[in-house]
Amino acid sequence: MQQLVFATNNAHKLHEVAEKIKDRLKILSLDDIGCYDDIPEIGQTFHDNASIKSHHVHQKYKINCFADDSGLEVDALNGEPGVHSARYSGKYGDHDANMTKLLRELGSNANRKARFRTVISLILNNEEHFFEGTVEGTIRHERAGTGGFGYDPVFQPDGYDKTFGEMTLEQKNHISHRARAVDQLVAFLNDPAIALNAS
Ligand code: IMP
Repeated sequence: MQQLVFATNNAHKLHEVAEKIKDRLKILSLDDIGCYDDIPEIGQTFHDNASIKSHHVHQKYKINCFADDSGLEVDALNGEPGVHSARYSGKYGDHDANMTKLLRELGSNANRKARFRTVISLILNNEEHFFEGTVEGTIRHERAGTGGFGYDPVFQPDGYDKTFGEMTLEQKNHISHRARAVDQLVAFLNDPAIALNAS
């Protein structure tokens, strides 16, 4: 079976994609190919960052691969935290501090409109393809729920009265930005017209 690297070490993300495509492709993690590089996410956009990661792996290992980059865009904050979502408060991956800063920056602003966005860069047979998924919603004034990660407790997707933090993983995965981007990637890879053999 042909192999495709997902440039991530997030086991949950890997599993989610691998499950959707297991009949057609074996998905490998960075760990599986022995890549422990600290790939700098210094792009100005999600496209840049996803592309930096996929190109890094493709150039070094000469293998078909894809990478993703995601974040939260808040309209009243001119799209911030955006590509800075993981380190908005200054400390990478401190989700609680990031939410505290977000709620402080928004204050009592009535415009709470926001969206999560995921961009995937796939390099297949030396060609780059992008896939994108978004989910629109609003930022609550306070946290609700303890599920998920990141900004989930303050993000309420449109059409629901719960935050992502109050949903089960299954409910969230049904409508999330990441799931939508992954579904497009999987549809593309499942197309019988796509040749998967070269790297
Ligand atoms: P990543 O590119 O998927 O690692 O996401 C970067 C950052 O965006 C995360 O550290 C979170 O702060 C935020 N983020 C991305 N996806 C989600 C999500 O599904 N829920 C909550 N926060 C997210």
